Amino acid sequence: MQAQTVYLNGEFTPIEEARIPVLDRGFIFGDGVYEVIPVYSGYPFRLVQHLERLQRSLDAIKLANPMTLARWSQLVRKMAKLHATWKDQAVYIQVTRGVAKRDHAFPSHTEPTVFLMSNALSVPDRKHVAEGVACITATDNRWLRCDIKSTSLLGNVLMRQRAAEAGCIETIMFRDGFLSEASSSNVFVVRGKQIAAPPNNHLVLPGTTNDVVMELARKAKMPLVLREVTEDEVRAADEIWLTSATKEVLAVSRLDGKPVGSGKPGPAYKRIYKLYQDYKRTVMRRA
Ligand code: PDD
Repeated sequence: MQAQTVYLNGEFTPIEEARIPVLDRGFIFGDGVYEVIPVYSGYPFRLVQHLERLQRSLDAIKLANPMTLARWSQLVRKMAKLHATWKDQAVYIQVTRGVAKRDHAFPSHTEPTVFLMSNALSVPDRKHVAEGVACITATDNRWLRCDIKSTSLLGNVLMRQRAAEAGCIETIMFRDGFLSEASSSNVFVVRGKQIAAPPNNHLVLPGTTNDVVMELARKAKMPLVLREVTEDEVRAADEIWLTSATKEVLAVSRLDGKPVGSGKPGPAYKRIYKLYQDYKRTVMRRA
């Protein structure tokens, strides 16, 4: 088994030995941000975009970036190298506001806590790809800054747990009658020939995988629009897709117990899935 080494504040340590103080604001308040970077055959995929998103999250919570882009890149590559027996990996970065006496307001002088780890990245289950997955829906009751990749994930955690308890993969959320996203994925819908997805704003996380899916769809001249998508449209969709770094692109075949379209992954999904796999083989593994 691959031993797991983590990076914590300048040190590389076995995961079992890494410790953070109980007053870390990440532990006390969830006062931190994170990234999950897929690494294919040793190549971190869209590393710069992930690090730019990290910068935007840090800016949004007014936390100075503790490292340069070059240093982050070096660390991510080192984490990947340390776990090279895994063909594909997901490198996790977390930065918190550091350790301070408990007070909601920011401490005046604290070093941020910087943590990296890597986990094996497995491709989605074949059965899920072939048959699609089941999802439930819920009202999006999270805060209004879902664009920040914050470690304060209780809203997402509760949504994902609802899905797990219903034997489903994800909870797809609606805010004021419009689609936002799922608990840890972005969502696309297909109606007729048109693919639609909500635009990036404060209500959704700007996903890196949905960027790839959009680029591939546009390149293949599949009609794609970014616009508000109503709850009724989602319920009447021919196809629904989920995207994330770990799910790639997955078809939703049942929503709230009812079949989506034909109840099987549709033609547009099959096309985009193939484009994604081709892209993974020809580009992501050689980035
Ligand atoms: N989550 N929306 C939410 C709320 C997410 O948590 C994620 C990813 C996405 C998709 O983003 P990306 O395509 O960049 O992975 C959308 C990661 C994988 C996680 O929290 O583990």
